[in-house]
Amino acid sequence: MRLKIIAGNWKMNKTTPEATELARGLIASVGQTERPRVVICPPYTALSEVAKTLKGSSIFLGAQNMYFKESGAYTGEIAPSMLLTIGVAYVILGHSERREYFAESDSIVNEKVKLALKTGLIPIVCVGEKLPDREKGLTEEVIAVQIDGSLAGLGEEEIRKIVIAYEPVWAIGTGKTATPEMAQQVHSFIRKRLRERFAAGAETISILYGGSVNAENAAGLMNQDDIDGALVGGASLKIDQFIGIIRSSGK
Ligand code: 13P
Repeated sequence: MRLKIIAGNWKMNKTTPEATELARGLIASVGQTERPRVVICPPYTALSEVAKTLKGSSIFLGAQNMYFKESGAYTGEIAPSMLLTIGVAYVILGHSERREYFAESDSIVNEKVKLALKTGLIPIVCVGEKLPDREKGLTEEVIAVQIDGSLAGLGEEEIRKIVIAYEPVWAIGTGKTATPEMAQQVHSFIRKRLRERFAAGAETISILYGGSVNAENAAGLMNQDDIDGALVGGASLKIDQFIGIIRSSGK
């Protein structure tokens, strides 16, 4: 049985006081929920305080990025050990906004995935096609390249430790969600690709869907065979919405 995960990507939102307030609100409503696993990913500056707030609750903490070196002269960057030692368990890697605005390639994502695993963080590796890719019928091709490149060189044991998020770029922040059937088709393709590369490891990987998920459309998406949770942007900043998604996602 795969672990169902509902993760909130807060992106560049929330000052530290605002972040701790939102975390406290979540704890009050779902702070002891074991299934699905709830993960929140505030901005770097709020991680330490939110980590303290989450102590004793069942909610896990995630970061939105990290650098692919352990330490050194990399002004402005954050090493995975810095995240681990303050209580971060998950790290989002290769989000389409990082790929688009910060020129992250599959090989950079791959470096990050390897170092995250070595450090003991759980990577949430994002893939997704842009609208022109989909319109040209290239969705599977694009996803295959991203999966192969981002996960290059990993072994079957390592692959069991990662989480994948399928986020069609055209559905992010646009209010356009993939239908459950469209999403299932790509999730099933991702699992097939993983099975070809990593054999049995593929069966236990949680593959999350992301892109305009909200409390109203979550249940339909989560009912699909290969959709094991959600990576939620905008709706994770609204407590009622995020709790609605968690409650309608099943266990
Ligand atoms: P939205 O839920 O705001 O579309 O964002 C999705 C996302 O990018 C999560 O990482």
